[in-house]
Amino acid sequence: MDCRGLKKLSKPNTHTPCYILEEEALLRNLKILDSVQKRTGSKIIMALKGFAMFSVFPLIRQYLCGISASSIDEARLGYEEFGREVHVCSPAYSDSEFDELLNYADHIVFNSFSQWKRFKATVAGSKKKIMCGIRINPEHSEVKIALYDPCCQFSRLGTTRNNFEENELDGISGIHFHNLCELNSDSLLRTLKVVEDKFGIFFARLKWINFGGGHHITREDYDIDLLCNLINDFKKQYPIEVYLEPGEAIALNAGVLEASVIDIIYNKMNIAILDTSAAAHMPDVLEMPYRPVIKGAGTSGEFKHTYRLGGATCLAGDIIGDYSFPEPLKIGSKIVFEDMAHYTMVKNNTFNGISLPSIAIRKKTGDIQIIKKFGYEDYKNRLS
Ligand SMILES: Cc1ncc(COP(=O)(O)O)c(C=O)c1O
Repeated sequence: MDCRGLKKLSKPNTHTPCYILEEEALLRNLKILDSVQKRTGSKIIMALKGFAMFSVFPLIRQYLCGISASSIDEARLGYEEFGREVHVCSPAYSDSEFDELLNYADHIVFNSFSQWKRFKATVAGSKKKIMCGIRINPEHSEVKIALYDPCCQFSRLGTTRNNFEENELDGISGIHFHNLCELNSDSLLRTLKVVEDKFGIFFARLKWINFGGGHHITREDYDIDLLCNLINDFKKQYPIEVYLEPGEAIALNAGVLEASVIDIIYNKMNIAILDTSAAAHMPDVLEMPYRPVIKGAGTSGEFKHTYRLGGATCLAGDIIGDYSFPEPLKIGSKIVFEDMAHYTMVKNNTFNGISLPSIAIRKKTGDIQIIKKFGYEDYKNRLS
């Protein structure tokens, strides 16, 4: 079905696995983000790596200024479907894709001076006015897990102060940094101080700065006042455009993954096998790792009936976790994983040939509309 042709599900609760985006929750997040833009005059763009469900772009673009892409395909999606500012930031661009990228991007961030020097002439020769920036690495870690820390030892992400070629800034109008992940504004405050200490002498030459992503702005305990104060203070000192490019904050707590129990077995404990998979449909559960919240369930032993929940793939470690329920599970029982809109649809895969979850939206009226279903062709087309 074409993703634009929204079609109502006759029996919405019978179709699993399915990601269901909550329209009202998305709107709540967008209004929070917009309040930051209004209080600070900064611009917030959405990082497509975290959330790229383009059927809701028309709603999102009423609030956010554009998108941030990390590849040519994300840039094209943003250009074609979002239609406002398209910023691109990647660890490296290849010669074969760069010309095409110029069609979509209006801001291009280079990870190194070697990349900037390689593509500078191509950008200058473009008919389109493109703003170029350098990603810096402030060498200041706030993220505790190395896998998610862009400032970890030997990081390839961004140019360190030692490698910053101040004589090569002709044509560079911006600086980009990104060193946060699911963090509060105190982390940004500390980072900004380091960035200013190391790179502040170059700010007078800039038109814009991008504070990257990882700002958990829509989380309940996020200190929005501190964020707004530090952006306002920054802008008073340096009158340049400030961008933020969160991904997760756009869709935080704005969707669920609904699955069903397809078998129950016993091997020294009760084990329920689901028609979903941590490895294929919620990879961050294994990668991060973290334990997703399940609606109505508790930790092991909290309620009377405890089960280990596992996916329908062959991977021994395809385990979501141990959960307890007030009532025994049965074949067909629905399991609703909370907060599954971000870093799921964009990361999922068809490992073992298991089907991708459908994508649906719960409208403000409560109606569920299936936007996309996947089938055999989606599996096959990726393989040859
Ligand atoms: C350069 C850059 N910008 C933005 C983001 C979005 O971060 P988040 O989804 O945590 O807000 C990321 C995430 O890895 C990133 O690498």
